[in-house]
Amino acid sequence: MQFFLDTAELAQIEQGIEWGMVDGVTTNPSLIASQGDAYLPTVKKIAELVPGPVSGEVLATDYEGMMEQARKLADLAENIVIKLPLTPDGLRTTRTLSQQSVKTNVTLCFSSAQALLAAKAGASYISPFIGRLDDLGQDGMQLIGDILQIYRHYGFDTQVLVASVRSPLHVVKSAQTGADVVTLPFSVLKKLYRHPLTETGLAGFLSDWRETGRNFDD
Ligand code: G3P
Repeated sequence: MQFFLDTAELAQIEQGIEWGMVDGVTTNPSLIASQGDAYLPTVKKIAELVPGPVSGEVLATDYEGMMEQARKLADLAENIVIKLPLTPDGLRTTRTLSQQSVKTNVTLCFSSAQALLAAKAGASYISPFIGRLDDLGQDGMQLIGDILQIYRHYGFDTQVLVASVRSPLHVVKSAQTGADVVTLPFSVLKKLYRHPLTETGLAGFLSDWRETGRNFDD
């Protein structure tokens, strides 16, 4: 399973890459707005930093506008994936870009029916937002299983990219279900490393050795 970081913060991306845990990055207009920088230059900087796919989202909502912005995004770097909303115009744009061999990520997916449409449109990735479904009292993870089952039936190439991830449990369940990618907020990536027994265990090992008064290479 691939790990993408769901962020527009360069320092977080640099840290994740240093840890060797970043296969790609997803951004959205809200994440880029939180950085206070210009839109396209921010996506470009991220694409230069990341040795993998970087999703940059269009802001237009009509077909012509999306196509124009998709071209500008695609011109930024070779690893850009065009992120498009799950609307009729978004999926029409997805189809055209797919015919031109441009990679796409269809975002704001909340149902299996929507995921089926995205695959038929030729999307490279589908992004179901599981945390936002959980917030409504629905089962986001169930949606991931349902989509994977449907895609397997028909051999769709569209990869399931689990988004709106809120906890390590979301990551583990995604892996158990067989999702292709999870996109993680940096806070969740950091939590994946942690276990209290690792921390107390390490502290114990080190203090036991310190008590001998000897050094590592004595
Ligand atoms: O990138 C989109 C998605 O991951 C948003 O997550 O936490 O705002 O629902 P969230």
